[in-house]
Amino acid sequence: MGSRIVATGRALPRTALSNKDLERYMDTSDEWIKSRTGINQRYAIRQGESLAEIATTASRIALERAGLKASELDAIIVGTVSSEYAFPSFACQIQHQLGISSIPAFDVAAACSGFIYAISVADSQMRAGDFKRVLVVGADALSTMVDWNDRRTAVLFGDGAGAVVMVTTPGNRGVLSSLLRSSGEHWHLLSVRATGVRSTIDSEVRRCADDAIQMKGPELFKIAVKSMEEVSRLVAERAGVKLDEIDLFVPHQANMRIITAVADRLGMPHEKVFTNIDRFGNTSAASVPIALDEAIEQGRIHDNSIVMLNACGGGLTWGANLIRW
Ligand code: UT7
Repeated sequence: MGSRIVATGRALPRTALSNKDLERYMDTSDEWIKSRTGINQRYAIRQGESLAEIATTASRIALERAGLKASELDAIIVGTVSSEYAFPSFACQIQHQLGISSIPAFDVAAACSGFIYAISVADSQMRAGDFKRVLVVGADALSTMVDWNDRRTAVLFGDGAGAVVMVTTPGNRGVLSSLLRSSGEHWHLLSVRATGVRSTIDSEVRRCADDAIQMKGPELFKIAVKSMEEVSRLVAERAGVKLDEIDLFVPHQANMRIITAVADRLGMPHEKVFTNIDRFGNTSAASVPIALDEAIEQGRIHDNSIVMLNACGGGLTWGANLIRW
C-alpha cells in the first residue's frame, strides 16, 4: 500500500509587494532583483494577518477538492518554521481552526525543505498502516523574520501556504520514492534565532539585525545547486525511473538561477520545469505545494504523470519526492 496526493490548495496574504515597492524601503532595484533572482513580486503578511488562518484556508480548499470532511482526516503534518507560537505546534493550530480533535497533528522543521520532508513522513506512516487520509501543509512567513534594512535577504522571501490531501492507494501510483538529507555543519549558511519580534513590513517594531535571517547567499547557492541535483538523481534511481521519463519538475523556488542550473545539470528541458518565483518569491516550505497547486490548475499534471519535487534550505536540509500522479 502506498500513498498519493488527491487534491491541492493554496492561500496567500492579501498584500503583493512588487520590486518597485521595495525600492522605497531599501537601496535596491527592480533590475537587480529580477536579473539575480527572477522575482518580480512576493506576498507579505501585514499586521493583523495570521499565517495559521492562511494555511487553514489552503487546507479547506484541498479538503473540498478531495471531497473529504476535516473530520475524516487521520493526521495533519505541517512543514513550517514560522509558527507564531513555540507551542502548540502549527499543525495543532490548523487542527483547531478546522474544528477537529483527537487525530495526531505535528510539525516538521526543515525550513525550505519542510514540505518535502512532510510528504516523506506522511508517505512512510501511510505505508506502515498508521493513517489512511493525511493533510500535509507547507506554510511559512519568512518576511516577518527579515531585517527590512538588509537588501541581501529582505527582497527574497514571500509568505504563503500550500496544502495537499494524501490517501492510501494500492498499485503503482503515488509516491514512488523520497530521499531526505541534512548537513548540520552548514547550519550557519542560513539561520534565524528563535527569539525576536514578528516584524511585518508595516509594523513599527523591527527585528534587530542579529535576530533577523542571516544568510551567506553565494556559498548557499553553490551547495543548493549541487545538493538538489544529487538528490534528484538519487531519488529517481531509487524508484528505477530515468530522468528523461520525468514529466514535470517542481523545484523549490529560491532563485531562478538555481532552478535553471539544477535543470541544466540534470539535462531537464526547461519546458518540463515549473516556475512561479516571479510572482511569489521564496516562500520557504510553502513554495513546492503552491507551485504544485498552480501546475495542476494550469493542466501541467495528468493521471500517470511522473512529477519530481525537490528543495534545499536552512539546516542545511534537502530532499526530493518522486510521484506518479
Ligand atoms: O531557500 C533556501 C535556499 N536559498 C538559497 O539557496 C539562496 C541562495 N543564494 C542566492 O540565491 C544568491 O546568492 C542571492 C540572490 C542571495 C544573492 O545573489 P548573488 O548574485 O550571489 O549576489 P551577492 O550576494 O554576491 O551580491 C552581489 C552584489 C553585492 O554588491 P557588491 O558587494 O558586489 O558591491 C551586493 O551588495 O549585489 C549586491 N546586492 C544587491 N544589490 C541590490 C545584494 N542584494 C542586493 C539587492 N539589491 N537586493
